[in-house]
Amino acid sequence: MSAQDGTTAPAPDLSVDFAGIALRNPVLTASGTFGYGVEFGPFLDLTRLGGFVAKSLTVDPRHGNPPPRIVETPAGMLNAISLENVGVDDFVATKLPAIPDGVPVIASVFGTEIDRYAEVCKRLTGVPKVAGLEVNASCPHVKAGGIEFGQDPQALATLVAACRSATDLPLVIKLSPNVTSPAEMARVCEGEGADGIAAINTLQALEVDPETRRPALANVLGGLSGPAIRPVAQRIVFQIAQAVSIPVCGMGGITCAADAVRFLLCGATAIQVGTANYLNPEVAGEIVEGLAAYCERHGVARVADLVGALDRS
Ligand SMILES: Cc1cc2nc3c(=O)[nH]c(=O)nc-3n(C[C@H](O)[C@H](O)[C@H](O)COP(=O)(O)O)c2cc1C
Repeated sequence: MSAQDGTTAPAPDLSVDFAGIALRNPVLTASGTFGYGVEFGPFLDLTRLGGFVAKSLTVDPRHGNPPPRIVETPAGMLNAISLENVGVDDFVATKLPAIPDGVPVIASVFGTEIDRYAEVCKRLTGVPKVAGLEVNASCPHVKAGGIEFGQDPQALATLVAACRSATDLPLVIKLSPNVTSPAEMARVCEGEGADGIAAINTLQALEVDPETRRPALANVLGGLSGPAIRPVAQRIVFQIAQAVSIPVCGMGGITCAADAVRFLLCGATAIQVGTANYLNPEVAGEIVEGLAAYCERHGVARVADLVGALDRS
């Protein structure tokens, strides 16, 4: 960018510190929508991203729900994949080595019981390339675990405490939007030693096929994601950011740089791109470029200056 005196202004500083993880920019990809990262290598240079969050991992490999488990809805999609994954040990042995050096990997942790979550945390601690852990306390379509932990403050506190004592890695807790007060849940996490909050996971939802008169998903209920949920997600990120002093990673319906800016202004320190990856596997890289262009256009020297800078005057 040319400054008024004809000199070239320095490129904006896109780096942020999220929960003790140094990111070259605040754009990550969301768990479950970006595989184990390696699948996106042909489309996107992963080193352009701030980092990525891998598919949630359990101690043992897990099969998902029977099909149909994805359905398109207006401005979004409903899924009930149910945390199908290769298991933590296979992830470490076969997926991680293919990730280029210098790409911060945040591993997502899931379990049907608290000690299973803690075991996954333990197995990921000290593993090269794993920069931090995101505990999925919020999957809305798994029969045991997930949603219960994310909806009951006491269970959530026990879960966070168990994960905290299992790892010294940066610990981020991903919260459910399917609660009355996400801010209260975030405070519980902060009180138990979490380093950051991620919000939001999908909204519990139901789609119906009027011809067959059946639910569109075999699981009946699923999780709604995509642009339809973005204003809800922004509201929740805003409320959480006001309630805690640990940083928030915001997501829900982000499709472009303007959406990323919206979340930063609401108080997110970093953001994640989820459903949009299905439409355009390069979108997260494009958002990084769009964010830099936004900063240049608005004379923002450091992207971190946008965090929580919503003008309510
Ligand atoms: C197909 C699919 C699978 C997902 N799997 C996971 C998962 O394994 N773990 C998790 O924490 N979130 C999972 N999510 C939720 C996303 O990470 C994200 O929180 C949510 O989709 C909202 O962001 P978006 O609207 O940009 O997709 C999944 C979402 C989708 C659409």
